[in-house]
Amino acid sequence: MQNDEIPPLGGWSEAELDQAFAAVAREVEEWASGLRSAEDVEQFRLHWLGRKQGRLKAISDAWLKSAPAEAKKQIGQRFNTLKAEIERRLELAGAGSAGNGLDAEAIDVTLPGTRRRLGAEHPLIRTWNEIVAVFQRMGYSVGVGPEVETDYYNFESLNFPPGHPARDTQDTLVIAGQERKPLRDRLLMRTHTSPVQIRTMEQQPPPVRIIIPGKVHRNDAADATHYPIFHQVEGLCVDTNITFGDLKGTLDAAMKAFFGSSVKTRFFPSFFPFTEPSADVQISCPFCGGTGCRKCKHSGWIELLGCGMVDPAVFGFVSQKQPLYDPSRISGFAFGMGIDRIAMMKYGIGDIGLLYSGDLRFLEQFA
Ligand code: DAH
Repeated sequence: MQNDEIPPLGGWSEAELDQAFAAVAREVEEWASGLRSAEDVEQFRLHWLGRKQGRLKAISDAWLKSAPAEAKKQIGQRFNTLKAEIERRLELAGAGSAGNGLDAEAIDVTLPGTRRRLGAEHPLIRTWNEIVAVFQRMGYSVGVGPEVETDYYNFESLNFPPGHPARDTQDTLVIAGQERKPLRDRLLMRTHTSPVQIRTMEQQPPPVRIIIPGKVHRNDAADATHYPIFHQVEGLCVDTNITFGDLKGTLDAAMKAFFGSSVKTRFFPSFFPFTEPSADVQISCPFCGGTGCRKCKHSGWIELLGCGMVDPAVFGFVSQKQPLYDPSRISGFAFGMGIDRIAMMKYGIGDIGLLYSGDLRFLEQFA
């Protein structure tokens, strides 16, 4: 294909130079259009641009040597153009063949494509969606709120006054550099989804039936059952004449819908600053039917959530913005549960950290 001899120059006029360079350019063109494999491209590069034996250099040396001084510039310019053309060809060929190691002209379209691995819903998200769906079927809407909260929404308006020991139950990650603000405006990572109760009521007059799933943060050291990030579902129902009976009936129906109609619920007195009275709810173990197994630590019961009747003091805070939340006219209940714990129980996950590890060996088990 190529002629290794140096083509002779007819003379030094522009027309003669153009003619001679056009002949070399045709040679380049002819060879370049036949490039197929990565080796072809490399050979082409060596042949034309090789530092010692490259043909371009040989031609340029020969032509320049014999050229009169006034023609050297013309010749030099034409060599630059030619070299740029060779490099452009190399780049094109490299992208098409050498770059991906494929023979550009020989793609076998009958080969199967690259198989993509099938994704799967994360067990945490699956549980989140299932819990949300249970309450949606009961007529609840779904809300969200910010993960970076103010002290007011996370604590004060939920009836945790400044300095109250109940704050110590939620070891809090605070945002740096807030000391000069009044306490109520200082930012922190929300420790629970309960602040969205307040935000919802401030935005919406009663009645309210809402659930709020979301991520929460606490300054807890990681171990098998703790992680600085976890997830909760908050529930809030406010209307006229809402009673503790409504709370019990709602949660009992929700637990049966989620775990199966044979689970039973039982309520124990508890304390949360924003509910009065407050309760902890246990369900009969859905895995052993209550006879005792590892999942229920052989007690037959599993503690699942906190709840209670909305404390009138909470309505007091809300009514500063929404006067319709008058505790003498309305009442409500609230509840909160951890999504991670439920997912771990349901799928037999022994270490909460696995939910956040991004480890495919773990995640693939849910595909
Ligand atoms: N916010 C509580 C926590 O994180 C959980 C909770 C308890 C939420 C009782 C509620 C409730 O709405 O009524 O520990």
